[in-house]
This record gives sequence, structure tokens and C-alpha cells, in this order.
Amino acid sequence: MFSVTSMANDFMTAKLIDGKALADSIKARVKEQAAQLQNSRGITPGLATVLVGENPASKTYVASKQKTVQELEMYSVGHTLPADISQNDLLNIIRDLGADAKIHGILVQLPLPAHIDQETVLAAIPLEKDVDGFHPINVGRLAMLKTLSVINRAPLFVPCTPAGCLALIDASGTKIEGARAVVIGRSNIVGLPVAFLLLHRNATVTICHSHTQNLPAVVGQADIVVAAIGKPRFVQADWIKPGATVIDVGINEIPDATKKSGKRLIGDVDFENAQNVAGAITPVPGGVGPMTIAMLMQNTLTAAQRAGDLIA
Ligand code: GUN
Repeated sequence: MFSVTSMANDFMTAKLIDGKALADSIKARVKEQAAQLQNSRGITPGLATVLVGENPASKTYVASKQKTVQELEMYSVGHTLPADISQNDLLNIIRDLGADAKIHGILVQLPLPAHIDQETVLAAIPLEKDVDGFHPINVGRLAMLKTLSVINRAPLFVPCTPAGCLALIDASGTKIEGARAVVIGRSNIVGLPVAFLLLHRNATVTICHSHTQNLPAVVGQADIVVAAIGKPRFVQADWIKPGATVIDVGINEIPDATKKSGKRLIGDVDFENAQNVAGAITPVPGGVGPMTIAMLMQNTLTAAQRAGDLIA
């Protein structure tokens, strides 16, 4: 089962929220439903990834997204483009993918090179293929209160990492309604959308950033902490309220001579110490990361089901 495992050591109080197991169960369900869609309607959910330039982290993320599409026996197309591609050429590729009936989802990996206007590119993705939920209209609809239950006004897709964070909080058994939630980081990809999702679930939400004063005291008020700043071990154990649920979105590489690769991944939270204080915590790796990909697969399936008029 995916949900939560208690750690055996007396000094460790936190329950570990197993993102890999939850992601595996979501992917298994997506694979089954994708096969059903293929059998009943001849529709194979298709995802196109667009990678511009040589950012090593982006290359790794896109490769694992494509690999997962293939594992789930869906259709995958990958465009790997030079860093100096013109904005017009990139827009033409996106328009072609938008018109391609075999493609149900289009993912443009961010960040884009500085000479390309990100918003123009994201706005060129047809709304019904915006499986990342980054089209300005989807972002706007996500931000608006009281529209999430109204299907024609709701965002067609919710961004994958924030959706994964909420699923992990739910899997931990933490009640969101009425909880105090502190989100550290205000990025368009994670911090802002996760804050909106928590707000829509009736949490009292504080968004912290580089200008926040007395961050430890603010974090200390939180029943739910979402750390998304991209700084290794930034959140200290003694900031965390005992029993809080901690979701660590950070994926930071640090040198590690004991590893064959010479490096390993750690999160934005000092996990070793925080696990003695938190009530539940996600590990890195194996927490939020796998959930981002699982949610992307779910959104791609949803896009294909909508294209087949099977769901609204
Ligand atoms: N860059 C970092 N995270 C993401 C993501 O979830 N989607 C895209 N498109 N780019 C990213």
C-alpha cells in the first residue's frame, strides 16, 4: 500500500510519506485505463515533450517523462531543440503538435532560454492539450476562487507537481481544511499553484519568499509545510512545529564520494533531523519527484479521454 509507513526507530517520530509507492499505484491505474481507451475507441494517449537547450536537469526530467509514457504503453514524441532556436520556429513546432490528432498532451520543459518569451510559448499550447497546466488561462482559472467545481470554468489541467503535493498530503491522512499551511517559495511552477490548491481546500495559507521576515517563526506556526525553494537542507528541524506534515519539493544535487556517480540528491529540508520532529514527511528522492510524473501521466490520459468525448 502506498500511504504511510511508521519508522521503527524510537528517535524517529515522523511517518514517511512514500511518494514512489503512491506514484506507482497511480501509474498502474493510468496504464489500465489507457489500455481500455485503446481497446474501446482505438485512442492511444499521446504526449509530446519539447526540450530546448542543454540544461542537464531538464534533460533528465524529460527523459524520465518519456520513459514513463513508454512504460505505460502510451504514445510518446520528443522534440529536442537547440538552445538558439528562434521563437518563431519553436512556435511553429508547437502549432504542428497542436494540430496533430495523435498528440493529446504537449509539455514544454521550463526554463526556456532567455531570448524566448515563456508566456507567448505557453499560450500557444491549445488549452485542451495543456497537460502541465501552465497556459495563462489555466493558471488564471486555478487562481480564481469558487470555480474549481464548475467544469467549464475550472482549469482544464492542474500543474503536476502541486497536484502531486496535495495527493501526498491526503495520503498522509493530514486534514487540510482549517490547517495552517506555509508554502516556502513563490514560483509559477510550484509555490503559487500549490498555495492556491491549499487555499481552495480551505487551509489558511502563507506564502514565504526571500523577503519574508523571521521565516523560522512563520514556519513554526504551520501544520503543513511545503518547501519549494531549491536550496539544499534550507529548512531546519527546529523551525518545524512538532507533528507537522512536511512536503519537500526540493531536488538538489550534492557531492557524495561514497556514490559511484560522485553525487546524490537531497531536498530543501534537513530531512535527517526534521524526521524527528515532523508528524509526516516526504523523502528525497522518492517523495514529490515520482508524483510529478504520475500526475503528468494522469493528465495525459485525461486529455485523451476528453478528446474521445468520454469525460467532460
Ligand atoms: N521545470 C521544472 N518543473 C517542471 C514541470 O513540472 N514542467 C515543466 N514543463 N517544466 C518544469
